[in-house]
Amino acid sequence: MYIKNAWYVAGWANEFGEALNRVVILEQPLVMYRKSDDKVVALEDRCPHRLLPLSKGKRIGDDVQCGYHGMTFNCEGACIRVPGQDNVPSSAYVCTFPVVEKNNIVFIWMGEKSKADEKLIFDMPEFNSNLWHVHQGDALHLKANYLNVAENLVDPAHVSFVHPTTLGNAASENVPVHVDTQGDVLVAWRWIRDAEPVGFFQKFGGFEGNVDRWHYYYLHLPSIAVIDFGSADTQLNLDEADRDKGVRIFALHFLTPVNEHYTIDRWLHIRNTAIDDEAASAQMDAMFRIAFNEDKEILEAIDEQEHLPQTRKPIRLAIDKGPTVYRRRIRDRVELETTEDLGEPVGSTFFHHE
Ligand code: FES
Ligand SMILES: [Fe+2]
Repeated sequence: MYIKNAWYVAGWANEFGEALNRVVILEQPLVMYRKSDDKVVALEDRCPHRLLPLSKGKRIGDDVQCGYHGMTFNCEGACIRVPGQDNVPSSAYVCTFPVVEKNNIVFIWMGEKSKADEKLIFDMPEFNSNLWHVHQGDALHLKANYLNVAENLVDPAHVSFVHPTTLGNAASENVPVHVDTQGDVLVAWRWIRDAEPVGFFQKFGGFEGNVDRWHYYYLHLPSIAVIDFGSADTQLNLDEADRDKGVRIFALHFLTPVNEHYTIDRWLHIRNTAIDDEAASAQMDAMFRIAFNEDKEILEAIDEQEHLPQTRKPIRLAIDKGPTVYRRRIRDRVELETTEDLGEPVGSTFFHHE
């Protein structure tokens, strides 16, 4: 269940250097490294001769020499040397994948190269504004399917129960979730008005009385989530459109599906408070780590459960609209990708005469 024609995150920019780095995305092993001109490249990590991963070989300038019999490939994937023979067979090549670095994140296109449009790469203006502070967090490894992880990121209803000490509290348990599935990005949100601040905002908002708190979950297909959450003094009676006037934080999650049961969630946050305060970044990281490990525990337990023989279908509740639409869209796009090159349906060749 993977959409191939999409930009996925291969890693943070600082994960790639001179060394040959093996990365697996959508079950596709890749060898990635930074060339002498600083650009990151991605080649199929499989020598076409005896299949040794090229990441086990070594770099010769910007090229890669296989560690078994020395076949050498350039950054375009072409074989430029076969030791012991002069001719290079036409089948001696490895596939390459388009890579673009943006906002210190390395994106890779896993589908048809001709469709790789850089304008489709995720971005938001806050990355490049001095009113906001961007802080790179960490990479959370989960033994779980990326669809379940993404579902969790368009699901504000779990927050009161899974994150009671950091991101949620009992005040939000029964507040309905709104969902908008009109556009390309799915949105689920809710406001909790006039309630005690949650742990996170007690710490970073300095609020003394009650606050209005919001959670907006934006899910960009296939697997990037932006969680916009914040709080403002209840006295302000903040309008939904004025969230910048409160203490506002975007927690971004870039999910990389490794295989059916393994996902890497690289997360960072962008905030409009404590902009020059690196100590606040570390404190927020610590709170996020608590919260995201709570999600990890839930998601891995669900994955284990899904491995067992199933006798009944899981039920769906009112809170599941976002996740349900998400899964349907992924299914539709995967189906489209697998059928669009087959051409138009074949017309009837049988004529019935009255
Ligand atoms: S396996 Fe790579 S050259 Fe033989
Ligand atoms: Fe969560």
